[in-house]
Parts: sequence; C-alpha cells; structure tokens
Amino acid sequence: MRLSGKKIILGITGGIAAYKTCGLIRLMVKSGADVKAVLTPNASNFITETTLRTLTKNPVYIRQFDEFEWKPEHVSLSDEADLFIIAPASANTIGKIANGISDNLLTSLITVFDKPVIIAPAMNCKMWENKFVQENLSKLINSGFHIVEPEQGELACGYEGAGRLADINKIYEKICEVIEQEKFLKGKRILVTAGGTKEPIDPVRYIGNKSSGKMGLAIADAAYSFGAEVCLVSTFKTQKPYKTIETPTAEQMQRVIPEKFHGSDALIMAAAVSDYRAREVARHKIKKDSGEMSIELIKNPDILDEIAGIKSSSQLVIGFCAETENLEQNALGKLEKKNLDFIVANDVSREDAGFESDYNAVTIIDRETRQLQTTPRLPKTEIAKIILKRVFSNYDVPAKNL
Ligand code: PMT
Repeated sequence: MRLSGKKIILGITGGIAAYKTCGLIRLMVKSGADVKAVLTPNASNFITETTLRTLTKNPVYIRQFDEFEWKPEHVSLSDEADLFIIAPASANTIGKIANGISDNLLTSLITVFDKPVIIAPAMNCKMWENKFVQENLSKLINSGFHIVEPEQGELACGYEGAGRLADINKIYEKICEVIEQEKFLKGKRILVTAGGTKEPIDPVRYIGNKSSGKMGLAIADAAYSFGAEVCLVSTFKTQKPYKTIETPTAEQMQRVIPEKFHGSDALIMAAAVSDYRAREVARHKIKKDSGEMSIELIKNPDILDEIAGIKSSSQLVIGFCAETENLEQNALGKLEKKNLDFIVANDVSREDAGFESDYNAVTIIDRETRQLQTTPRLPKTEIAKIILKRVFSNYDVPAKNL
C-alpha cells in the first residue's frame, strides 16, 4: 500500500471536473491514505458533501468558521496532513494562492501549509492559455508546487484544447511519487558546509567574502526534510533540528571536516572558503596612525582537495564553483583537478542570483558523463532540492520552469 498511513488533504474547487475526484479518492483510500476533502464554496455546486463524506469516511470541510474542534480548521488540518492535492484547481484558486489571498477555507489552508502541494488544474482552454493564469502558475512552480498539467481534448464547455483535468491515474501516480520522494535520503548521512570564512587580521578585522550561507543552509534543510541525517558545518552560529558546528575560519573548518566526513555518505561543500589568510594575526587592533599597512597572506588548505584524496569509493564529494567568467570551462577544470563526483557551478557576477541572493541558477556537472545540466533561476530552496535529487536519485534537471 503505497500511501499507507499518509494523511492527504484533497482540495476541490468549482469546476465540472470535480466529479472525477471521486475516482481519485477511491485510489488514495485503497492505497492506505486517510483523505480529507476541503471544498471551495463554488465546488459544492459540482459535487455533494454526502458523496465525499461517504468516500473519504471523514467530515467534509467547506466553511471557514465551522468549528469541529478548538483549533481553527486551517491550522489543525494543515498540521496533521502530509500532502495537499488540489484537483481540479480553477484559474481563480490558482490566482488566489499565487497572490497570497486566503478568503476561504481552502485558500487559508494552503497559505499555512508548508509540506508538498500538488496542483492539478482544469479549466477552459482559453483560460488555461491566459497570460495571467500562466504567470500565476509559474509563481507556484517557482515556489516548489508540483503541477500535473491538464490534458488536451474535448472540454465540457464545448471547446477543444488543453484544459481537461489530467487522468486520475496520472494524478494518483504523482501523489505516490511525491510522497515516496519526500524521504528518499533516509539512511544517508550528509555533511554540508555553508557561509564565507572570516580570516582574522587582528581582533577586529578579517578577510571575508560575500557568501551569506543561504545556499548551504538551503541544502542542509532540504537534505534533512528528505530524511537524511545532516551535519552542517557553517561559518556562523545557527540553530537547527540537526547537528550544526560553527567554524569561522578555513583552518577550523579543515580540522572538523575530515573527522565528520568519516562515516558520512557525502560532503556538499557550498561554503566559500578563503584561499588565503594572514601569516600573522595581530594580538591587538592595528592602529591606523602607523600609516600604510600591508598584510602578508599565505595559502589556506584546500579542504575539498584533501577530502577527495581520502574518500572511499562509496562516498560522494560535491564541490561548488563560484566564477565570474568562463563558468563551464572553469567548473570542468575544478571537477577534474579536485577529483570530485559532482560540481555545481554558479555565475556570481549576476545581480539577481548567487552571493547573498535568495535565488540561484546553477550548472551541475557529474564526473561520469561530464554532462552539463543547467537550472533556470529559482529560489535557493528549490535549487537545493534539484541538486540533491540530481546527486542521489539520478534525476534530470528541468531545463525550463516545470
Ligand atoms: O552563501 P550564499 O550567499 O548563499 O552564496 C552561495 C555561494 C555563491 C557561496 C555558493 O553557491 C558557492 O558557489 N560556493 C562555493 C564558493 C567557492 O569557494 O568557490 P571556489 O570556486 O572558490 O571553490 C571551489 C570549491 O572548493 C568550493 O566547493 C569550495 O568550498 C572549495 N574550497 C575552496 C577553497 C579552499 N581553500 N577550500 C575549499 O574546500
């Protein structure tokens, strides 16, 4: 039973395809899921509460202020569910979700829901092609929603085109796939680094870089949510539900990583480690009245290089590559030179992605095929998931925003 013990919210919006969800409920329930139906007020024009209550064997939720218990429904239902599927999803509801509008129970629920969401749109073909509907849909995709695209065919409104709710077997498969993928890193131990090192010059000054740590944190969070045992080595203090170690400098990081790598399945090195540090660190603040100042710099250890040299054949080492020119060529060079399994290259000259931004656009190259897979610009939280799926489940990076 692929959905055994899983709690699923089925959101139904106002559209003729609402009746098809009866078949979907039967598939989910037969597969072991506990399904609760949440309807928009318009949906009850197309399907009855009695039908849904009988099929799900649960109360049906429509009105925002029906109180089944002390907690508001949009909070309690959301807390307990593993997945939210909206089928059929109308243009109206897609638009509301994409713009943070929560004016009924279903849209309020989705606003607080922080687990996987699948949207199966169904509407007239002209509505489906409408520029604003497509823009809203892109917003949802970019925020990590899964979409089961509507199919071509004869529509209830008499038109012929794309807009028919996808086949319920296809929607059911997507639900199983998303649930199964949620914990695809269970049993893996993953070591992640994040942030820019700070190499001291004196007690108040340091050599640093623009890394905020957002990319590394997103990878650690995603690996944890996919079921991995995570250890995050970051250049700053952070509190997480998984193990974290603070190492502000390259030398401190170098002391920690080999020990933690032992027993890990993979190292993902997203930190921007300074290549140089001051030979001498002044014990007291250097006074500016001594005129010009020069600092002698010495090379820092290359942590990735060292780890790639000691790794066993079952361990994976994934490096990042921050470049401002010749991205692919430089990334391939580093993959080769540092003997990495994967390299993730990002162009840090971009203003809308890379350092400090919440967004990134990366090219992932694997050692075996040397194939380049490039993502669109996406939130780092999404880039993190793509990297993990590419590395651990041989997933092909989506070439466009789908
Ligand atoms: O932190 P954010 O603001 O979110 O930005 C993310 C990022 C741009 C920092 C991140 O995506 C990134 O590219 N990280 C790697 C930056 C970097 O140091 O690139 P590099 O090309 O100089 O180094 C190549 C690899 O060697 C990196 O994995 C680096 O961690 C590693 N390295 C570098 C130097 C060194 N002494 N030891 C190392 O292990």
